[in-house]
Amino acid sequence: MVLRRALLAAARGRGVQKLASTMPVSSTIVSRFVAGETADEAIEVARQLLDEGIQVTIDHLGEHTEDREGAESATRAYLDLLDRLSRAGVARSCEVSLKLSALGRDLRPDGEKLALENTRTIALAARNAGTAISIDMEDYTTVDSTLSVVQELRRDFPETGAVLQAYLRRTEGDCRDLAYQGSRVRLCKGAYAAPESVAFRRRSEIDLSYVRCLKILMAGQGYPMVATHDPRLIEIASALAMRYDRSPGSYEFQMLYGVRPEEQRRLVSLGDTVRVYLPYGDQWYAYLMRRLAERPAYVGFFLRSLVTR
Ligand code: FDA
Repeated sequence: MVLRRALLAAARGRGVQKLASTMPVSSTIVSRFVAGETADEAIEVARQLLDEGIQVTIDHLGEHTEDREGAESATRAYLDLLDRLSRAGVARSCEVSLKLSALGRDLRPDGEKLALENTRTIALAARNAGTAISIDMEDYTTVDSTLSVVQELRRDFPETGAVLQAYLRRTEGDCRDLAYQGSRVRLCKGAYAAPESVAFRRRSEIDLSYVRCLKILMAGQGYPMVATHDPRLIEIASALAMRYDRSPGSYEFQMLYGVRPEEQRRLVSLGDTVRVYLPYGDQWYAYLMRRLAERPAYVGFFLRSLVTR
Protein backbone atom coordinates (compact mmCIF):
# COMPACT_ATOMS: atom_id res chain seq x y z
CA MET A 1 0.00 0.00 0.00
CA VAL A 2 2.84 2.42 0.91
CA LEU A 3 4.73 1.52 -2.28
CA ARG A 4 1.54 1.94 -4.32
CA ARG A 5 1.03 5.45 -2.92
CA ALA A 6 4.68 6.35 -3.54
CA LEU A 7 4.44 5.19 -7.16
CA LEU A 8 1.22 7.12 -7.75
CA ALA A 9 2.86 10.23 -6.26
CA ALA A 10 5.88 9.62 -8.54
CA ALA A 11 3.50 9.50 -11.53
CA ARG A 12 2.84 13.24 -10.99
CA GLY A 13 6.38 14.12 -9.84
CA ARG A 14 9.25 15.44 -11.94
CA GLY A 15 12.26 13.70 -10.30
CA VAL A 16 12.21 10.14 -11.64
CA GLN A 17 10.38 11.39 -14.73
CA LYS A 18 13.44 13.44 -15.75
CA LEU A 19 15.73 10.46 -15.26
CA ALA A 20 13.34 8.13 -17.09
CA SER A 21 12.72 10.50 -20.02
CA THR A 22 15.92 9.35 -21.71
CA MET A 23 14.76 5.71 -21.63
CA PRO A 24 13.49 4.66 -25.08
CA VAL A 25 10.14 2.91 -25.52
CA SER A 26 12.11 -0.07 -26.77
CA SER A 27 13.52 -0.60 -23.25
CA THR A 28 12.12 -3.92 -22.04
CA ILE A 29 9.86 -2.76 -19.22
CA VAL A 30 8.37 0.12 -21.25
CA SER A 31 7.76 -1.97 -24.38
CA ARG A 32 5.87 -4.53 -22.33
CA PHE A 33 3.07 -1.98 -21.85
CA VAL A 34 3.58 0.56 -24.66
CA ALA A 35 3.13 -0.30 -28.36
CA GLY A 36 5.83 2.04 -29.68
CA GLU A 37 6.64 5.70 -30.18
CA THR A 38 4.78 6.34 -33.43
CA ALA A 39 1.23 5.88 -34.71
CA ASP A 40 2.51 3.46 -37.35
CA GLU A 41 4.16 1.27 -34.71
CA ALA A 42 0.88 1.21 -32.74
CA ILE A 43 -1.08 0.33 -35.90
CA GLU A 44 1.34 -2.52 -36.60
CA VAL A 45 0.69 -3.97 -33.11
CA ALA A 46 -3.04 -3.35 -33.55
CA ARG A 47 -2.97 -5.39 -36.78
CA GLN A 48 -1.40 -8.34 -34.93
CA LEU A 49 -4.14 -8.16 -32.27
CA LEU A 50 -6.88 -7.87 -34.90
CA ASP A 51 -5.47 -10.98 -36.59
CA GLU A 52 -6.11 -12.80 -33.32
CA GLY A 53 -9.71 -11.58 -33.21
CA ILE A 54 -8.98 -8.91 -30.57
CA GLN A 55 -10.30 -5.35 -31.03
CA VAL A 56 -8.33 -2.31 -29.98
CA THR A 57 -8.64 1.12 -28.41
CA ILE A 58 -5.55 3.26 -29.08
CA ASP A 59 -4.33 5.92 -26.66
CA HIS A 60 -1.84 8.62 -27.67
CA LEU A 61 0.11 8.95 -24.41
CA GLY A 62 0.25 12.30 -22.65
CA GLU A 63 -1.60 14.09 -19.87
CA HIS A 64 -1.76 17.39 -18.00
CA THR A 65 -0.79 19.52 -20.97
CA GLU A 66 0.60 22.85 -19.73
CA ASP A 67 -0.11 25.16 -22.67
CA ARG A 68 -2.42 25.60 -25.65
CA GLU A 69 0.27 24.52 -28.09
CA GLY A 70 0.53 21.17 -26.22
CA ALA A 71 -3.25 20.70 -26.38
CA GLU A 72 -3.27 21.46 -30.10
CA SER A 73 -0.39 19.13 -30.72
CA ALA A 74 -2.19 16.29 -28.86
CA THR A 75 -5.33 16.96 -30.95
CA ARG A 76 -3.30 16.85 -34.16
CA ALA A 77 -1.73 13.56 -33.05
CA TYR A 78 -5.21 12.00 -32.72
CA LEU A 79 -6.31 13.37 -36.12
CA ASP A 80 -3.17 11.94 -37.70
CA LEU A 81 -3.75 8.60 -35.93
CA LEU A 82 -7.35 8.40 -37.18
CA ASP A 83 -6.25 9.26 -40.71
CA ARG A 84 -3.63 6.49 -40.62
CA LEU A 85 -6.12 3.99 -39.15
CA SER A 86 -8.54 4.83 -41.92
CA ARG A 87 -5.93 4.50 -44.66
CA ALA A 88 -4.74 1.20 -43.14
CA GLY A 89 -8.34 -0.08 -43.38
CA VAL A 90 -8.54 -0.99 -39.67
CA ALA A 91 -10.47 1.95 -38.20
CA ARG A 92 -13.71 0.00 -37.68
CA SER A 93 -12.08 -2.33 -35.14
CA CYS A 94 -9.85 0.36 -33.58
CA GLU A 95 -11.47 3.07 -31.53
CA VAL A 96 -9.40 5.71 -29.71
CA SER A 97 -9.16 6.59 -26.03
CA LEU A 98 -8.20 10.06 -24.90
CA LYS A 99 -7.61 12.09 -21.75
CA LEU A 100 -9.17 15.54 -21.39
CA SER A 101 -6.10 16.76 -19.48
CA ALA A 102 -4.01 16.06 -22.60
CA LEU A 103 -6.39 18.20 -24.65
CA GLY A 104 -6.15 21.28 -22.44
CA ARG A 105 -8.61 20.81 -19.57
CA ASP A 106 -6.15 22.09 -16.92
CA LEU A 107 -5.49 25.38 -18.72
CA ARG A 108 -6.76 28.69 -17.37
CA PRO A 109 -9.18 30.35 -17.85
CA ASP A 110 -11.31 28.14 -20.11
CA GLY A 111 -9.58 24.75 -20.17
CA GLU A 112 -12.75 22.65 -20.04
CA LYS A 113 -14.21 24.49 -23.03
CA LEU A 114 -10.95 24.08 -24.97
CA ALA A 115 -10.79 20.34 -24.15
CA LEU A 116 -14.43 19.93 -25.22
CA GLU A 117 -13.74 21.66 -28.56
CA ASN A 118 -10.65 19.55 -29.20
CA THR A 119 -12.50 16.37 -28.24
CA ARG A 120 -15.38 17.30 -30.55
CA THR A 121 -12.92 17.70 -33.44
CA ILE A 122 -11.48 14.24 -32.70
CA ALA A 123 -14.95 12.66 -32.29
CA LEU A 124 -15.95 13.98 -35.73
CA ALA A 125 -12.76 12.61 -37.32
CA ALA A 126 -13.40 9.27 -35.58
CA ARG A 127 -16.94 9.13 -36.91
CA ASN A 128 -15.74 9.97 -40.44
CA ALA A 129 -13.22 7.14 -40.13
CA GLY A 130 -16.02 4.74 -39.07
CA THR A 131 -15.08 4.48 -35.41
CA ALA A 132 -15.64 6.20 -32.05
CA ILE A 133 -13.84 7.66 -29.06
CA SER A 134 -13.84 6.84 -25.34
CA ILE A 135 -12.90 9.44 -22.75
CA ASP A 136 -10.62 8.05 -20.04
CA MET A 137 -11.40 8.96 -16.43
CA GLU A 138 -8.57 10.66 -14.56
CA ASP A 139 -8.27 11.54 -10.88
CA TYR A 140 -11.35 11.96 -8.65
CA THR A 141 -11.32 15.78 -8.77
CA THR A 142 -12.10 15.66 -12.50
CA VAL A 143 -15.06 13.24 -12.52
CA ASP A 144 -17.85 15.86 -12.65
CA SER A 145 -16.08 17.81 -15.36
CA THR A 146 -15.38 14.66 -17.43
CA LEU A 147 -18.96 13.41 -17.15
CA SER A 148 -20.32 16.79 -18.18
CA VAL A 149 -18.05 16.78 -21.26
CA VAL A 150 -19.27 13.24 -22.08
CA GLN A 151 -22.88 14.36 -21.73
CA GLU A 152 -22.32 17.40 -23.95
CA LEU A 153 -20.50 15.36 -26.61
CA ARG A 154 -23.12 12.64 -26.64
CA ARG A 155 -25.68 15.14 -27.96
CA ASP A 156 -23.88 14.97 -31.33
CA PHE A 157 -21.83 11.80 -30.83
CA PRO A 158 -23.95 9.34 -28.79
CA GLU A 159 -21.36 6.63 -29.52
CA THR A 160 -18.82 8.36 -27.21
CA GLY A 161 -17.65 5.95 -24.51
CA ALA A 162 -17.55 6.97 -20.83
CA VAL A 163 -15.33 5.50 -18.10
CA LEU A 164 -16.37 4.92 -14.48
CA GLN A 165 -14.09 3.86 -11.60
CA ALA A 166 -15.47 1.34 -9.10
CA TYR A 167 -13.17 2.56 -6.31
CA LEU A 168 -15.10 5.82 -6.02
CA ARG A 169 -18.01 5.78 -3.59
CA ARG A 170 -20.17 7.80 -6.02
CA THR A 171 -19.83 5.36 -8.93
CA GLU A 172 -22.89 3.17 -8.29
CA GLY A 173 -25.00 6.30 -8.76
CA ASP A 174 -23.09 7.25 -11.92
CA CYS A 175 -23.68 3.72 -13.29
CA ARG A 176 -27.42 4.16 -12.77
CA ASP A 177 -27.33 7.49 -14.59
CA LEU A 178 -25.36 6.05 -17.52
CA ALA A 179 -27.08 2.66 -17.99
CA TYR A 180 -29.36 3.90 -20.76
CA GLN A 181 -29.90 2.67 -24.32
CA GLY A 182 -26.79 3.06 -26.49
CA SER A 183 -24.56 4.27 -23.64
CA ARG A 184 -21.09 2.70 -23.83
CA VAL A 185 -19.58 2.55 -20.34
CA ARG A 186 -16.15 1.20 -19.46
CA LEU A 187 -16.03 0.03 -15.85
CA CYS A 188 -12.55 -0.14 -14.29
CA LYS A 189 -11.32 -0.27 -10.69
CA GLY A 190 -9.53 3.11 -10.81
CA ALA A 191 -5.83 3.82 -11.11
CA TYR A 192 -5.25 7.17 -9.33
CA ALA A 193 -4.63 8.20 -5.74
CA ALA A 194 -7.83 9.22 -3.90
CA PRO A 195 -8.65 9.97 -0.25
CA GLU A 196 -10.79 7.63 1.83
CA SER A 197 -13.57 10.23 2.00
CA VAL A 198 -14.32 9.66 -1.69
CA ALA A 199 -12.82 6.23 -2.46
CA PHE A 200 -12.81 2.70 -1.11
CA ARG A 201 -9.30 1.73 -0.10
CA ARG A 202 -9.45 -1.98 0.71
CA ARG A 203 -9.22 -4.37 -2.28
CA SER A 204 -12.25 -6.33 -1.05
CA GLU A 205 -14.36 -3.15 -0.83
CA ILE A 206 -13.31 -2.09 -4.34
CA ASP A 207 -14.13 -5.53 -5.73
CA LEU A 208 -17.57 -5.52 -4.07
CA SER A 209 -18.25 -2.07 -5.46
CA TYR A 210 -17.15 -3.33 -8.91
CA VAL A 211 -19.69 -6.16 -8.71
CA ARG A 212 -22.51 -3.81 -7.64
CA CYS A 213 -21.68 -1.48 -10.54
CA LEU A 214 -21.45 -4.40 -12.98
CA LYS A 215 -24.92 -5.58 -11.95
CA ILE A 216 -26.37 -2.15 -12.69
CA LEU A 217 -24.65 -1.93 -16.09
CA MET A 218 -25.46 -5.51 -17.13
CA ALA A 219 -29.11 -5.13 -16.07
CA GLY A 220 -29.36 -1.77 -17.85
CA GLN A 221 -29.89 -0.82 -21.49
CA GLY A 222 -26.36 0.35 -22.30
CA TYR A 223 -23.23 -1.38 -23.58
CA PRO A 224 -20.97 -2.40 -20.64
CA MET A 225 -17.22 -2.53 -21.27
CA VAL A 226 -15.76 -4.69 -18.50
CA ALA A 227 -12.20 -3.42 -18.04
CA THR A 228 -10.36 -5.68 -15.63
CA HIS A 229 -7.76 -8.46 -15.51
CA ASP A 230 -9.23 -9.86 -12.33
CA PRO A 231 -10.21 -13.52 -12.94
CA ARG A 232 -12.98 -13.45 -10.33
CA LEU A 233 -14.57 -10.32 -11.77
CA ILE A 234 -14.33 -11.70 -15.31
CA GLU A 235 -16.17 -14.82 -14.15
CA ILE A 236 -18.82 -12.77 -12.37
CA ALA A 237 -19.27 -10.55 -15.44
CA SER A 238 -19.85 -13.62 -17.63
CA ALA A 239 -22.38 -14.99 -15.13
CA LEU A 240 -24.20 -11.65 -14.95
CA ALA A 241 -24.29 -11.40 -18.74
CA MET A 242 -26.03 -14.79 -18.79
CA ARG A 243 -28.40 -13.81 -16.00
CA TYR A 244 -29.47 -10.70 -17.90
CA ASP A 245 -29.73 -12.55 -21.24
CA ARG A 246 -26.95 -10.59 -22.89
CA SER A 247 -25.50 -12.02 -26.10
CA PRO A 248 -21.68 -11.79 -26.56
CA GLY A 249 -21.93 -8.71 -28.84
CA SER A 250 -23.95 -6.71 -26.30
CA TYR A 251 -21.02 -6.14 -23.92
CA GLU A 252 -17.25 -6.52 -24.10
CA PHE A 253 -14.18 -7.26 -22.02
CA GLN A 254 -11.27 -4.85 -22.07
CA MET A 255 -7.68 -5.34 -20.93
CA LEU A 256 -4.46 -3.39 -21.11
CA TYR A 257 -1.81 -4.18 -23.70
CA GLY A 258 0.78 -6.50 -22.18
CA VAL A 259 -1.42 -7.74 -19.33
CA ARG A 260 -2.79 -11.31 -19.36
CA PRO A 261 -2.60 -11.83 -23.17
CA GLU A 262 -3.41 -15.53 -22.77
CA GLU A 263 -6.66 -14.61 -20.99
CA GLN A 264 -7.53 -12.21 -23.82
CA ARG A 265 -7.17 -15.08 -26.31
CA ARG A 266 -9.13 -17.48 -24.08
CA LEU A 267 -12.10 -15.09 -23.93
CA VAL A 268 -12.01 -14.62 -27.71
CA SER A 269 -12.05 -18.40 -28.14
CA LEU A 270 -15.22 -18.52 -26.03
CA GLY A 271 -16.89 -16.08 -28.44
CA ASP A 272 -16.55 -13.00 -26.24
CA THR A 273 -15.71 -9.56 -27.63
CA VAL A 274 -12.34 -8.45 -26.26
CA ARG A 275 -10.72 -5.04 -26.73
CA VAL A 276 -7.14 -4.19 -25.79
CA TYR A 277 -6.15 -0.69 -24.65
CA LEU A 278 -3.04 0.10 -26.67
CA PRO A 279 -0.98 3.15 -25.68
CA TYR A 280 1.81 4.62 -27.81
CA GLY A 281 4.05 7.69 -27.78
CA ASP A 282 7.03 8.97 -25.84
CA GLN A 283 5.03 10.38 -22.88
CA TRP A 284 4.84 6.94 -21.28
CA TYR A 285 6.14 7.82 -17.80
CA ALA A 286 2.91 8.46 -15.80
CA TYR A 287 1.14 5.55 -17.52
CA LEU A 288 3.97 3.17 -16.63
CA MET A 289 4.04 4.39 -13.00
CA ARG A 290 0.34 3.53 -12.65
CA ARG A 291 1.01 0.03 -14.06
CA LEU A 292 3.89 -0.43 -11.60
CA ALA A 293 1.62 0.70 -8.74
CA GLU A 294 -0.78 -2.11 -9.67
CA ARG A 295 1.98 -4.70 -9.87
CA PRO A 296 4.92 -3.69 -7.62
CA ALA A 297 6.74 -6.88 -8.74
CA TYR A 298 7.71 -4.90 -11.88
CA VAL A 299 9.41 -2.11 -9.93
CA GLY A 300 12.71 -4.03 -9.80
CA PHE A 301 12.72 -4.38 -13.61
CA PHE A 302 12.06 -0.67 -13.99
CA LEU A 303 14.85 0.40 -11.63
CA ARG A 304 17.27 -1.99 -13.34
CA SER A 305 16.30 -0.53 -16.76
CA LEU A 306 17.01 2.97 -15.40
CA VAL A 307 20.52 2.18 -14.20
CA THR A 308 21.60 -0.16 -17.02
CA ARG A 309 20.32 1.80 -20.01
P1 FDA B 1 -6.09 -5.67 -10.01
O1 FDA B 1 -4.94 -4.82 -10.41
O2 FDA B 1 -6.66 -5.55 -8.63
O3 FDA B 1 -5.71 -7.18 -10.30
C1 FDA B 1 -6.64 -8.18 -9.96
C2 FDA B 1 -6.10 -9.52 -10.40
O4 FDA B 1 -5.93 -9.54 -11.82
C3 FDA B 1 -4.75 -9.88 -9.83
O5 FDA B 1 -4.85 -10.39 -8.53
C4 FDA B 1 -4.29 -10.93 -10.85
O6 FDA B 1 -4.95 -12.15 -10.62
C5 FDA B 1 -4.82 -10.35 -12.16
N1 FDA B 1 -3.78 -9.50 -12.77
C6 FDA B 1 -3.72 -8.16 -12.75
N2 FDA B 1 -2.63 -7.73 -13.41
C7 FDA B 1 -1.98 -8.83 -13.84
C8 FDA B 1 -0.78 -9.05 -14.55
N3 FDA B 1 -0.02 -8.04 -14.96
N4 FDA B 1 -0.42 -10.33 -14.82
C9 FDA B 1 -1.18 -11.35 -14.40
N5 FDA B 1 -2.31 -11.21 -13.69
C10 FDA B 1 -2.71 -9.97 -13.42
N6 FDA B 1 -8.16 3.45 -14.79
C11 FDA B 1 -8.60 4.72 -14.62
O7 FDA B 1 -8.53 5.25 -13.50
N7 FDA B 1 -9.13 5.41 -15.67
C12 FDA B 1 -9.26 4.86 -16.91
O8 FDA B 1 -9.75 5.51 -17.83
C13 FDA B 1 -8.81 3.51 -17.08
N8 FDA B 1 -8.92 2.89 -18.30
C14 FDA B 1 -8.64 1.54 -18.38
C15 FDA B 1 -8.89 0.85 -19.56
C16 FDA B 1 -8.73 -0.52 -19.62
C17 FDA B 1 -9.03 -1.25 -20.88
C18 FDA B 1 -8.27 -1.23 -18.45
C19 FDA B 1 -8.10 -2.72 -18.47
C20 FDA B 1 -7.96 -0.55 -17.31
C21 FDA B 1 -8.13 0.83 -17.25
N9 FDA B 1 -7.83 1.53 -16.11
C22 FDA B 1 -8.26 2.84 -15.99
C23 FDA B 1 -6.98 0.91 -15.06
C24 FDA B 1 -7.81 0.28 -13.97
O9 FDA B 1 -8.47 1.27 -13.20
C25 FDA B 1 -6.95 -0.57 -13.04
O10 FDA B 1 -6.02 0.25 -12.40
C26 FDA B 1 -6.21 -1.71 -13.74
O11 FDA B 1 -7.01 -2.30 -14.71
C27 FDA B 1 -5.86 -2.81 -12.72
O12 FDA B 1 -7.03 -3.30 -12.13
P2 FDA B 1 -7.62 -4.78 -12.35
O13 FDA B 1 -9.08 -4.65 -12.49
O14 FDA B 1 -6.94 -5.45 -13.46
O15 FDA B 1 -7.37 -5.48 -10.96
